[in-house]
Amino acid sequence: MSLIQAAREARENAHAPYSGFRVGAAVRGASGRVYAGCNVENAAYPEGTCAETGAIAAMVAAGETALTEVAVIADSADPISPCGGCRQRLAEFGGPQVPVTMAALDGRETRATLGELLPGAFGRAHVVRG
Ligand code: THU
Repeated sequence: MSLIQAAREARENAHAPYSGFRVGAAVRGASGRVYAGCNVENAAYPEGTCAETGAIAAMVAAGETALTEVAVIADSADPISPCGGCRQRLAEFGGPQVPVTMAALDGRETRATLGELLPGAFGRAHVVRG
């Protein structure tokens, strides 16, 4: 199954009763396995989580800490673009060369690399000394 198809299917399970904006995401781990996630909102609005965050959590829970590809999809006017927080979360596990496919539900897609989405990323090298 393609990464965007995995994201599309996960989106079907999104829990978004407050925004009505359902998002699906999928990441490919270095093993080749695909991990999908959807946004999960909460009555306490700030406690909701993004689709990309769910996909990353599934990957890490399965024992992988490197991703090679990302896809995200929503019923947006233009292909959805990952939020700033998710760009940072993706950059924790993927290098600047990692391709990100951003899609609208009608099939339109745009592509960028993680480095293009988050130039000058703050990362491990800034935190870990020696
Ligand atoms: N959302 C995502 O799941 N991913 C993004 O990159 C952008 C925003 C979700 C969060 C919230 O549940 C809804 O979309 C509206 O912002």
